[in-house]
Amino acid sequence: MNKTGDKRYQLTNLETGQASELEAHAGTLGPAVLDIGAVGRDHGLFTYDPGFMATAATASRITYIDGDAGMLLYRGYPIEQLAEHSSFLEVAYLLLKGELPVAGELASFTRSIGEHTMLNESLLRLYGGFHHDAHPMAMVAAIVASMSAFYHDTTNIYDEHHREIFAHRIIAKIPTIAAAAYKHALGQPFVYPRNDLDYCSNLLHMFFAVPCDAYHPDPLHAQALDLLFILHADHEQNASTSTVRLAGSTGCNPYAAISAGVSALWGPAHGGANEAVLEMLEAIGDVSQVPAFLDRVKDRKGGVRLMGFGHRVYKNFDPRAKIIRAMCHQVLERLGHSDNPMFELALKLEEIALQDEYFVSRKLYPNVDFYSGIIYRALGIPQSMFTVMFAIARTVGWVAHWQEMIADPAMKIGRPRQLYLGATRRDYRPLEQR
Ligand code: ACO
Repeated sequence: MNKTGDKRYQLTNLETGQASELEAHAGTLGPAVLDIGAVGRDHGLFTYDPGFMATAATASRITYIDGDAGMLLYRGYPIEQLAEHSSFLEVAYLLLKGELPVAGELASFTRSIGEHTMLNESLLRLYGGFHHDAHPMAMVAAIVASMSAFYHDTTNIYDEHHREIFAHRIIAKIPTIAAAAYKHALGQPFVYPRNDLDYCSNLLHMFFAVPCDAYHPDPLHAQALDLLFILHADHEQNASTSTVRLAGSTGCNPYAAISAGVSALWGPAHGGANEAVLEMLEAIGDVSQVPAFLDRVKDRKGGVRLMGFGHRVYKNFDPRAKIIRAMCHQVLERLGHSDNPMFELALKLEEIALQDEYFVSRKLYPNVDFYSGIIYRALGIPQSMFTVMFAIARTVGWVAHWQEMIADPAMKIGRPRQLYLGATRRDYRPLEQR
């Protein structure tokens, strides 16, 4: 903990007068966090914070978000600068190692990722156990979890070398795993990775190549994907990353922890929102239907939400949404889809919602998922794969957080407490007496 700027508070039991001192630790940025150790130790109380609205579960040096300012930093670097100047693998290196690589480091990291792209053939056969209409996220979660049964040289979490190979292996193989899920759903043969291609061109190749035809990934498509991956690579203690940390804190194998993250990401309140946004836009259908749709959202009876809007931390524009919206204009224009009706509808929906008192008063702005699906669709990625694309990029963040946690000598198993509201002690009665 950074001791500079720490502040002291007092917790007093107003009935007994018992007082304890609590310390608020200052970080390098953002609000200080109150060390509540004395709450339990001196007063026998637990704290209650459903949804972790104000609870820091860990200290971290990876990513910082200022939700009011709409600021996102990876290892201190603003997302806007990384989006403009960096590449996904360079950002991956930065998130994992803490510093931007020099040329030799980036070349060697890129080479290592390229060397680990293939999947064990037995793992590929596991896809055959899934029905063709299985959601690809179900397949990805299962295959990632199964990796622990294949790559034993990376499962000793206390060995730094194992952790390093694990990181490279999962980042290298997650596009292969995703593409194989897509090919299985289509009933097409798996396409093996090509290590002469960059990360995103290889992904496109594995998605869209077929054995009977030549396929040349479009550099424009690969570039757009690379940018989307940079924007999705990490987001501090979000639900899926916290899931990876919690699962990993038990000492489980790292593939199991990442698989838990994939499952958490799938939910529509989290990474599943990119798929849900397109479903919503399709259901709205036309700009003329936007007011009626927003009335249903505001009515709140049917549980309808404006998908791709709102965020737990951002109470201002999500900086990633700003970048993606601008990118949407460019990508659609360059791909010859400048009159894309889905994008027109999304722009109109955003414009109307941002003038509506319901959304303004609740500080609800477009988040990263509002526009990403429109770009994925323009690149030919099917809707059912949108959340998988998110998972590919976020794997880097999950691994960085898992590594940070495991390397911390103060790591403890994550074990929350509860406010119990169930039955008090009672005695069992045999069936005939109930
Ligand atoms: N549409 C309509 N109303 C909303 C929305 C929305 N998208 N989001 C929040 N609200 C309303 C809530 O009803 C609530 O209103 P109230 O105070 O009158 O009860 C208020 O805004 C606060 O919302 P909460 O749900 O309490 O906020 P929370 O921080 O728990 O949820 C979340 C954040 C889950 C992202 C939410 O905004 C949401 O469901 N958004 C839509 C799904 C989505 O886009 N998820 C992707 C998030 S980004 C990511 O994970 C990659």
